[in-house]
Amino acid sequence: MSAEKNTRKILITNALPYANGPLHLGHMVGFMQADIWARFQKIRGHQVTFVGGDDQHGTPIMLGAEKKGITPQELIDDVEAKHKESLDGFNIGLDNYTGTHHPENRRISAEIYTKLKERGHIDVRVIKQAFDEEKGMFLPDRYVKGTCPKCKAADQYGDNCEVCGTTYDTTDLIDAYSVLSGKPPIEKESEHYFFKVSAFESMLSEWKNSGALQPEIANKLEEWFESGLIDWDISRDKPYWGFEIPNAPGKYFYVWLDAPIGYMASHQVHCDKTGDDWNSYWQQGNDTELYHFIGKDIVRFHSLFWPAMLEAVDYRKPTAVFVHGFLQVDGSKMSKSRGTFIMAETYLEHLNPEYLRYYFAAKLGNNVVDMDLNLEDFSARVNSDLVGKVVNIASRCAGFIVKRFDGMLATQSAAPELHLEFANAADAIAERYEKREFSQAMRDIMALADKANQFIDEHKPWILIKDETKLDEVQQVCTAGLNAFRSLCIYLKPVLPNLVSEAEAFLNTDELVWNDLQTPLLNHKINKFKPLMTRIESDAVERMIEQSKESLEEVSNIDPASPLAKDPVSDEISFDEFAKIDLRIAKIVKAQHVDGADKLLQLTLDIGGETRNVFAGIKSAYAPQDLEGKLTVMVANLAPRKMRFGMSEGMVLAAGPGGSDLFVLSPDEGAEPGMRVK
Ligand code: 2FM
Ligand code: ZN
Repeated sequence: MSAEKNTRKILITNALPYANGPLHLGHMVGFMQADIWARFQKIRGHQVTFVGGDDQHGTPIMLGAEKKGITPQELIDDVEAKHKESLDGFNIGLDNYTGTHHPENRRISAEIYTKLKERGHIDVRVIKQAFDEEKGMFLPDRYVKGTCPKCKAADQYGDNCEVCGTTYDTTDLIDAYSVLSGKPPIEKESEHYFFKVSAFESMLSEWKNSGALQPEIANKLEEWFESGLIDWDISRDKPYWGFEIPNAPGKYFYVWLDAPIGYMASHQVHCDKTGDDWNSYWQQGNDTELYHFIGKDIVRFHSLFWPAMLEAVDYRKPTAVFVHGFLQVDGSKMSKSRGTFIMAETYLEHLNPEYLRYYFAAKLGNNVVDMDLNLEDFSARVNSDLVGKVVNIASRCAGFIVKRFDGMLATQSAAPELHLEFANAADAIAERYEKREFSQAMRDIMALADKANQFIDEHKPWILIKDETKLDEVQQVCTAGLNAFRSLCIYLKPVLPNLVSEAEAFLNTDELVWNDLQTPLLNHKINKFKPLMTRIESDAVERMIEQSKESLEEVSNIDPASPLAKDPVSDEISFDEFAKIDLRIAKIVKAQHVDGADKLLQLTLDIGGETRNVFAGIKSAYAPQDLEGKLTVMVANLAPRKMRFGMSEGMVLAAGPGGSDLFVLSPDEGAEPGMRVK
């Protein structure tokens, strides 16, 4: 089958990396996923624009620059140059890269905000916040530390305790101090601007069900609706590094307000260069498509605030937001001391970027689960699949064609049926790519590579060549092998743009596109074969790990409030942290429906002399009468959470993907309400 006939106009973005530190391999998951998808759409003949840029505002950048004795502008310029270098190094084919401090972003942010204000979506309220008198600035939660009001652990951040997990207001901390001056902050009032996101709940609910979100993300939204949408604070007081809010001297847009607008600004800069029509992508009711690739930690910004903001000012909403999980290395979060916190530039010093592009593709699905880069498996898989299977096909056939047939492919292939089989896989593989089931696509492609190798094994051109009467057969067998290799190159082109570009030079063809799968290369002169990829040597991986350990010093000097400082790529907890979780056997004495809640049941739990009220999102799987009298397991020391329907005092444990497949955990007989679970 041929590529789709109708040309789609597709705009793609990946989360804009924060401009306060280098890119690491965690960043590359999203970039590679987005890039592979963009390249796939391009070779299918669609009109694709993939834009990006750095996220350049906020307190960490302001203070980071101050610490280095440079201006924020100098800092963001320096970081942008480094980010671009790393992205180029990994062949991320962005059509434009413009950071959020660009004047276009100032213009569009102001325009959007002004409309929000005119239309009554902005509320101005006075709030109290921690203020550092010595620094003369309000302190974001991460810049205040103190003793946890609940468990009394020292040195906890202003928003939550990393020891007992309680969330609280900065003002609740005992002996609070500013991370910047060490002095106790005072409480100070200030006017803040809020975007009233709750007005958009029904629109968001409809959008969520339009296929724009993966099921697990749509469920998350439902949970947020259940607990009630809270107005979003979009302003920060001076001193702040960002854009000043129009007609509000001393007030700045919170970094997350203008960050996603940065997608629009970068696209505008691109359109200015190419003459493409920006409006046709962003106006409502157009037939262009808009996709955002993001990590699971920034879903709220992209699935609540962003679509609500766009809707509020009559811009179109994203066609879909594609969320991926975090990266782990060798089964654990990236660790500076183990040398697995690998910077993009460190990787590039030691290894071919296409090894990682292939490995990530071979592991990525369209779900939100974390991905593991297992270093042993990485080498084994790349060596076996790319070097051992794909490139091997070309190296087994090319020599005979070049040396014995003057580089000419035969006028017919020894295996037209093999070519047909490869071509017939096109629709299925395209569908895998389209649905971002890259791991399955790689499996399908490698199964074809196995078939091509089997064909060569069976026909043994290296034996046939010894018989002068079999020369035609050798030429036809090798022509079949090289055509199989060419088809594999087309299938792998989104993942391995470099390798395929070298293969195009070797095959002496124009840039390969999806439609080329249908027509074999026959009676065509090819060029001399050069090895297209070499094996991963284990000492290269070891050297990369060693170098990552050496850069430990450098990385750990990062500002405590920077995303890099809090190992951004996993959720591992220590044994002590786990031991703090108070799991108890609870008896469900009462279960009832909650008026106005689609997913919740209200449970009254007996935990041995104490009664708890808990709202549990299990209505899709249980009727209240199924639950009454049952024993279950609850988290008894979870901080109470105010929900729209009342206070929830703990959490009941359940397993399963959701919907009717949800199973409340129940202990074996003999357990009693109140017993601790160990
Ligand atoms: O989480 C982050 O690293 C943010 N800098 C992502 C911003 S995405 C977009 F909204 F700009
Ligand atoms: Zn605590």
